[in-house]
Amino acid sequence: MNNWRQKYHIEPKSGWLNDPNGLCFFKGYYHVFYQYAYEPTGGNKYWAHLKSKDLINWEEAPIFLSPEYDYNKNGAYSGSAIIKDDIMHIFYTGNVKKDGDFDYIYEGRENNTVHVTSKDGINADSGKVVMYNKDYPEGLSCHVRDPKVFEYEGKYYMVIGARTMEDKGEVLVFESEDLDNWKHIRTFETMARIGYMWECPDLFEINGQWILMACPQGLEGGKYEFQNIYSCGYFIIEGDFRTNGFITEYKEADFGFDFYAPQTFVHDGRRLLLGWMGMPDASYTNPTIEYGYQHCMSVFRELDFANNTLYMKPVKEFEHLRKELFEYDEENTSYKVLDDKRAFDLELQNFGDRFEIEIFDTLKLDFDAGRGDLELSFIANGYGREKRFLRTKSIENLRLMIDASSVEIFVNDGKQVMSTRMYPSEYKEIKVSGNIRGMLYSLDI
Ligand code: FRU
Repeated sequence: MNNWRQKYHIEPKSGWLNDPNGLCFFKGYYHVFYQYAYEPTGGNKYWAHLKSKDLINWEEAPIFLSPEYDYNKNGAYSGSAIIKDDIMHIFYTGNVKKDGDFDYIYEGRENNTVHVTSKDGINADSGKVVMYNKDYPEGLSCHVRDPKVFEYEGKYYMVIGARTMEDKGEVLVFESEDLDNWKHIRTFETMARIGYMWECPDLFEINGQWILMACPQGLEGGKYEFQNIYSCGYFIIEGDFRTNGFITEYKEADFGFDFYAPQTFVHDGRRLLLGWMGMPDASYTNPTIEYGYQHCMSVFRELDFANNTLYMKPVKEFEHLRKELFEYDEENTSYKVLDDKRAFDLELQNFGDRFEIEIFDTLKLDFDAGRGDLELSFIANGYGREKRFLRTKSIENLRLMIDASSVEIFVNDGKQVMSTRMYPSEYKEIKVSGNIRGMLYSLDI
């Protein structure tokens, strides 16, 4: 039997899921599109579509985009949405591999920026290409993709991730007055190379601070940094992003095994983020492939910016789902989950310098202030995942969003996060030792 079906995370019934795309609120619904393939191990990319009134319960809508045209035949790749004049405008990369003997890195690939509209938010028109390879700046390889569009002070802006011919990652910025004619106004790059390619950029203002998020590929890993094959993080922008603003130090957004290609949007004053709880080209795997599907999204997170840091917290909607409260058992130093629950929200306060938490028969968290880190390690059921580290000298609180096959660990009010898939063989007990206590709720979903 498959115990690993997620209770409150978006995942496909069958097939493959990667990046969230086109996040927006339109005609009374939140919309999530995502990179979809019919086979659980991947394939040509479509845009699958879900909508929701509350960010919790999702209704499936028909496939929104298919790789059915000459301009997108090798994939309707990632992109974003913007609402204008009561119309949903979608921008994405139409990926085309030319026939021939090409490497498809420096030659043989077209990256068409496609503009699609939808009046009802369900059906897309056939789309038109608003930028071809020739419209991008010179000196770029064939990796140019993932447009994210937003409006600011009466104009539209688009950021696109790119790899130069010298294998340097960067982000291109375009401006438009009408969503169809785009002009390259500048490029965000770093003096010292941060990877060879920056995928899935996002540019936004939060609490008065402009941030550039991106997923750099090709960084050399260390114990605390770039532990995954590809990274995901953000730069703080100093100055005006349109003119001479520049990006400062790169900070990683997640320290777990599975978090990539997040996208944000604003609705009702909240900046919400959804990430893919997966990692391209990882050495570890997911046993749900056997059941015909693979990968899921993170929970929706609300962003904040303070102390020069981007904070992420599960959206408050999850708090309304808290149902049964499991008591901490002093004698056995654990929370016992006797019935067949799979969905939990665990809030803990830490009063000491060391603690350990064991989640079912699967995961262990070990904090030691002296050592200065939180170590996440698999006892079993990691399917190739072993250890990840998050550097911190103090932990005051933790929030763990636990689902049937994932955990997202929010440290110190979401100042740092670790997201990972896990595949427990039972869901009986969460053990806690050290001076850390709190509330374990099951979620009613
Ligand atoms: C990131 C990514 C994007 C691309 C998409 C294709 O995971 O490689 O750069 O648009 O996935 O599915």
